[in-house]
Amino acid sequence: MPAHDFPPLVAGNWKMNGTLASLDEARALMKKLQGANPRCDVMLCPPFTLIHPMAGVLGDSTIALGGQDCHWERSGAHTGDIAAEMLADLGCTAVIVGHSERRTDHGETDEIVKRKAAAAHRAGLVSIVCIGETIDERKAGKTLDVLSRQIAGSLPEGANAANTVIAYEPVWAIGTGLTPTTDEVAEAHAHIRKELAARVGGEEEAARVRIQYGGSVKPNNAHELMSVPNVDGALVGGASLKAADFFGIIEAYL
Ligand code: 13P
Repeated sequence: MPAHDFPPLVAGNWKMNGTLASLDEARALMKKLQGANPRCDVMLCPPFTLIHPMAGVLGDSTIALGGQDCHWERSGAHTGDIAAEMLADLGCTAVIVGHSERRTDHGETDEIVKRKAAAAHRAGLVSIVCIGETIDERKAGKTLDVLSRQIAGSLPEGANAANTVIAYEPVWAIGTGLTPTTDEVAEAHAHIRKELAARVGGEEEAARVRIQYGGSVKPNNAHELMSVPNVDGALVGGASLKAADFFGIIEAYL
């Protein structure tokens, strides 16, 4: 399978933002994308409450829909949780798992993230598995060790380029306006690519896995960040909430 079967993926993670009125941003994004044909896939990951209405808005547009989390079980007594199968039922094709905010706010470990990624695959969803170091880990020179540990611990059996996307999100870059240098991004992504080989059945398969960069991606730095070797798209928080900003990032692939 040639690499272009998996084009870069620019995904917007709305986090805990948005009400029904925010669907206008999805409509505006659809309009901007009409005839634009970017060389990347585009996805929106709204909060659970907006998935169903957003699916109605997106219709058969090229914008894909993803969830922000899922439980590892199919169903059962798990108050407040959502199963991967429920996301698939609403038209999602992917789900973010192991975001640093869930690792911090909800104590999610690599083992839990692995179970969630496996659940995503069971339901036919792509898992967008988030990894990244804290500022203390970076200062201590442990970045690459942390990434190795998270990759080894968070990817389930059967992970491959078709069902798994890695999002490298340095925790200290999320929502801060700070970004690593392009050299630092290149080093991290090359390391992730190398480590993936053991998890997805070899170097050839690892070469096809999309590795997104996330953390303060904005229209004014997207082109530079997306040009770094081994960067296959972006996972965007704040700048994905407004269609104009998000499209400004997608423009890196026009
Ligand atoms: P920001 O783009 O707001 O820094 O968030 C990044 C992120 O966490 C995406 O998942």
